[in-house]
Order: sequence, then C-alpha cells, then structure tokens
Amino acid sequence: MRDLKRKDRLLEAAGDTYGKTLALQTLDVCDVESVKQCVDSVKDRRVDVLINNAGIGLLGPLESIKMEDMKKVFDTNFFGAVRVIKEVMPDMKRRRAGHIIVMSSVMGLQGTRQCA
Ligand SMILES: NC(=O)c1ccc[n+]([C@@H]2O[C@H](COP(=O)([O-])OP(=O)(O)OC[C@H]3O[C@@H](n4cnc5c(N)ncnc54)[C@H](OP(=O)(O)O)[C@@H]3O)[C@@H](O)[C@H]2O)c1
Repeated sequence: MRDLKRKDRLLEAAGDTYGKTLALQTLDVCDVESVKQCVDSVKDRRVDVLINNAGIGLLGPLESIKMEDMKKVFDTNFFGAVRVIKEVMPDMKRRRAGHIIVMSSVMGLQGTRQCA
C-alpha cells in the first residue's frame, strides 16, 4: 500500500496471518523507485505470483473530466501495472516460472451510458 499509516483495517482483516504469511510493504505503482524498492524488499527478489490490483476509477461525462485526472488513471491502472511487470518479469523469465494476474474491469469489454 502507498501509506502504511493506513494499515489498520487491512491488519484487522488479515487476522493472525500478519507476520506469518503476510507482510506489508510500501508501494506506489506510479513511482518507479518505489516499485524497485518494494521488489528489492522481497527475499531474493523472488516473486512467484504478481497480482496487479492497484487501480483507481473515474466516471463522468468526458467533457467535464480534467486531462490530468484522466492521465492519472492511465498512469495508475495501465502504466502502474507495466512498471511492476517490468520489475519482476526478467527474474521470472530467468527462473522460467511465475504468474502475473492483472485486475481488469467489465467496462474494458462493454461501454456504459455517459462514460467514454
Ligand atoms: N470496485 C469496482 O467496482 C471495480 C470495477 C472495475 C474494476 N475494478 C478494479 O479492481 C481493482 C480493485 O478495485 P477495488 O474496488 O478493490 O478498489 P479499492 O478498494 O479502491 O482498492 C484499490 C487499491 O489500489 C491501490 N492503489 C491505488 N493507487 C495506487 C498506487 N498509485 N500505487 C499503489 N497502490 C495503489 C489502493 O491502495 P492505497 O491503500 O494505497 O490507497 C487500494 O488498495 C482496481 O484495479 C480497480 O480498478 C474495480
């Protein structure tokens, strides 16, 4: 997560897995240094399964949405996933093992009224 100060709800949901099978690290997928530091913090940089879940939504009439807000969506949802994949893919290829899961949206397949 981007800000570990906001971890309380997550820890509550995690129960006694925290510290055993669950660890938390800071990660901002919009910041390539943050991505690198997060992957470096994993033992031997070994990521067996990458789940690209980070994402933000933006709904509304196209003409009323600022370009900078639209760019933030692409920087997070698309380039954010690309940054993390670029960081783990070379190691996965070297090991010839690994899985990458990317969260998407039904809105990538079908449109909805008043949304571009
Ligand atoms: N809920 C829906 O109806 C819906 C529909 C279609 C697609 N999706 C997609 O499904 C995924 C999960 O959605 P959700 O509804 O569970 O959303 P959510 O509760 O808002 O969770 C999104 C997560 O993305 C993280 N995130 C956002 N920007 C980030 C960044 N720059 N770097 C790292 N983490 C970042 C947030 O972490 P922080 O704790 O740091 O804020 C948050 O934990 C997203 O990719 C979303 O686009 C959701």
